[in-house]
Amino acid sequence: MSDPHLLLALDQGTTSSRAIVFNKSGQKVAVAQREFAQHYPRPGWVEHDAEEIWATQLAVMTEVLESPDVTMSAVAAIGITNQRETLVVWDRASGRPVAPAIVWQDRRTADDCARWREAGHEEQVTALTGLRLDPYFTGSKLAWLLRETPGLRERAKRGEVLAGTIDTWLLWKLTDGAVHATDASNASRTLLCNIDTVAWDDALLALMEVPRAMLPEIRDSAGDFGRVADGLPGAGLPIAGVAGDQQAALFGQACFERGMAKNTYGTGCFLLMQTGAERVASANNLLTTVAWRLRGRPAYALEGSVFVAGAAVQWARDELKLVSSAEELSELAGSVPDAGGSILVPAFAGLGAPHWDPYARGTWMGLTRGTGRAQLCRAVLESIALQSADLMQAMMQDSGLELKELRVDGGASRSDVLMQIQADLLGCEVVRPQETETTALGAAYLAGLGVGLWSDREEIAAQWAQERVFVREGERFRHDALWKDWQRAVRRAKAWARE
Ligand code: G3P
Repeated sequence: MSDPHLLLALDQGTTSSRAIVFNKSGQKVAVAQREFAQHYPRPGWVEHDAEEIWATQLAVMTEVLESPDVTMSAVAAIGITNQRETLVVWDRASGRPVAPAIVWQDRRTADDCARWREAGHEEQVTALTGLRLDPYFTGSKLAWLLRETPGLRERAKRGEVLAGTIDTWLLWKLTDGAVHATDASNASRTLLCNIDTVAWDDALLALMEVPRAMLPEIRDSAGDFGRVADGLPGAGLPIAGVAGDQQAALFGQACFERGMAKNTYGTGCFLLMQTGAERVASANNLLTTVAWRLRGRPAYALEGSVFVAGAAVQWARDELKLVSSAEELSELAGSVPDAGGSILVPAFAGLGAPHWDPYARGTWMGLTRGTGRAQLCRAVLESIALQSADLMQAMMQDSGLELKELRVDGGASRSDVLMQIQADLLGCEVVRPQETETTALGAAYLAGLGVGLWSDREEIAAQWAQERVFVREGERFRHDALWKDWQRAVRRAKAWARE
């Protein structure tokens, strides 16, 4: 029998739980996926059932381990990657969640954040965490739950209830309560972690009134996270890699050199640029985050998050009924050279980086009698590329680095038309890899490093292979003109819901 050479990645996302087995060459051997319910109990609230997350994750893990191409003895390790920031709090003794998981998209703590801001805390919080006082992050969600649930804070102080992001919850369940830990990349998204020391910070814990006893231990992103407990599928397998999904994608794209960047085109867009051991503080409203920590040494990244990207395509398909599929939208968009002067700003949930305007709302400017379906479809794709171009511009200003290539992944990166628009706008190479499951692959790589399947990152980087490169076509001034129009349209979309 050959040595263990497979890696099992558990990819716990916002709408589905997935399990993917990769071989040592980074090729997929087995895949399983299950969606789970989204709960919107009040306007602006988004919740998940943590038990359902665990059940779906366990089901897909079982499915791939039972696939004919996978034998348990061939699996070297498990890697976990996850939707970030989402909060789970559970009872240590029973292992049952004490409340629904509060999802990263949930805005219920907007007023708490505003209050902290008004009390003058934002500057200190940003300096300590690299983040902003925004409901997006875990800390305000935990502060809210501790305040709103009678007796919870006292129980937390006594160590009877535990908190964590989704990685921590899955680790706890997989090890049957033996491990209460997280990795540096996930910890850096909580608003409770000091970005320099990568440790829970007393000043932040005091501000959010969070008892330290309920927080997990912060570990390297590759290393020992315990073993799967007896009685579960994969019992005895080591869990050796953990990272938040966007950081895992950066790793899966082999962005190991300072200045390398990736953009994931999913429901939203997440653009991350690796800045090495240096933590770059943003002057342009981006976030500073831990990319990963290996052998005790953190690598940092600048991050820009756009809330609506692929979701705009879904909206055009499902609500406007412009097309019946994303492929059709891309095809129609590619049938015209431009959007006929129309610009969509898909600020359906406000605007994320670099604008951070929760009161912005969607607008469609520049419509004329000649604007047809094809132009509308083109404007939808352009809106995704334009938002990403905003992030890229901010990133280059912050880092002082000129970007030569952008590595892309995620569902919408399959659209050649979108990728061409992106290359036209950015002027750098837009590079699509052969393997676009880079989030899961990143978790597998981290797990493989954790158990020594690869000796170093150079070995991994050598495996990364491109499928297609997009370069700028057409005259630059036309693309610049589009970007100027976009900025005019964004100005009009801002603050719409406040006036
Ligand atoms: O920060 C939120 C992000 O981690 C969610 O990613 O892919 O689950 O939508 P995704």
